[in-house]
Amino acid sequence: MHENVTPGAGHGSPASIVLEHVSKTYPTSGGGWTEAVKDVSLTVRQGEFLSILGPSGCGKSTLLRMIAGLLPVTQGRILVAGVEVKRPVTDVGIVFQKPVLLEWRTVLENVLLQPELRGADTRAFVARARDLLVSVGLEGFEDSHPRQLSGGMQQRASIARALVNDPPLLLMDEPLGALDALTREQMRVDLEELWLQSSKTVVFITHSIDDAVLLSDRVVIMSPRPGCIDHVIDIDLPRPRALAGRKHEGFHVAEEAITAIFLERGVLQRSRGLTAAEIARHTESSPATRRQTVS
Ligand SMILES: Nc1ncnc2c1ncn2[C@@H]1O[C@H](COP(=O)(O)OP(=O)(O)O)[C@@H](O)[C@H]1O
Ligand SMILES: [Mg+2]
Repeated sequence: MHENVTPGAGHGSPASIVLEHVSKTYPTSGGGWTEAVKDVSLTVRQGEFLSILGPSGCGKSTLLRMIAGLLPVTQGRILVAGVEVKRPVTDVGIVFQKPVLLEWRTVLENVLLQPELRGADTRAFVARARDLLVSVGLEGFEDSHPRQLSGGMQQRASIARALVNDPPLLLMDEPLGALDALTREQMRVDLEELWLQSSKTVVFITHSIDDAVLLSDRVVIMSPRPGCIDHVIDIDLPRPRALAGRKHEGFHVAEEAITAIFLERGVLQRSRGLTAAEIARHTESSPATRRQTVS
C-alpha cells in the first residue's frame, strides 16, 4: 500500500526546532562518562538557515542526531514542529558527515530510497530524483554504483537523496567537508539557491567559518567539549550571497568576530611560535617585497 506521498508536494510549512536545556553524556569504555553536549537551549525559527559552528569533538554531530531523533537526549527536551522528539523524525532530510550510500544500489536507486521506505510509488519520484542529480552535478552517473564515484560525488548523491522528499527540515552534518574547494564553492551557491526557492528550515553543521557566514541567517558558536552555546551571531547580509558575499564589509566583520571568539577560547592560535628572525627572513625574500625594492 502506498502512503499518500507525492514528489515535490512539500509537507506544509517549514518546521521550527526548540531545544530546552539539552544535555548528552556518553558512557566511556573505562566505566566513566563523556559529557558531549551541556545545557543547550535554542530555538531555530521556521524557514531559518542556521549554522552550528565549532571545533572537532564539541558535540555538533551529537546535537544533530538528537534533533533527528536518532539518539536520545540525556537531559532536557527537543521539539520539532511543536512535537517532542522521542523517535526518529520522519519529515526530515539528513545529510551525514560521511556519505552513507547502499553499495548494491545505483545512484538513482539510492536517491529513491526515502520515498521507497515511506511506501510511496517510487515511479512518481524518478523525474524529481533525476532533476536533483543534475542540480548536484551528477548527470550521467544515475546508473553508476557508489564505488565508482569519488567521495565528493558520493556526498553530492547523499544531498540529492536528502532532498527528494522535499522535507520541511534539512539537517546537514558537515555536508561540504569532503568536497574539493571548487565543488564546495558551487555547492554553497546551489544550496543557498535551493533554500531561497523552497521554504525549509536548515540546520547546517560546519567547522568552516566561511560556510557559516556565507550561508546562514544565524551562526551558533559552540564551545569546546562539553559543547554548549558560546555565542549566537546574526548574519545580516543581502542574498544571494554565496559567491558575492565576500565583497561585503559585513562578511569580514562577521568572520573577524568569529575568529576573535575562537582565538579567545584557544580553538585558534595566532602563531605556533615563529621567531622574529624567521618572520623577518620570509619578509625580506618575499616576491612582493622584492618588487617593492625594485620599483
Ligand atoms: N557513540 C559515542 N560514544 C561515546 N562517545 C562519543 C560517541 N559519539 C561521540 N562521542 C564523543 O562525544 C564528543 C562529541 O562528539 P561529536 O558529537 O561527534 O562531535 P563533533 O561532531 O563536534 O566533532 C566527542 O568527545 C566524542 O568522542
Ligand atoms: Mg561531527
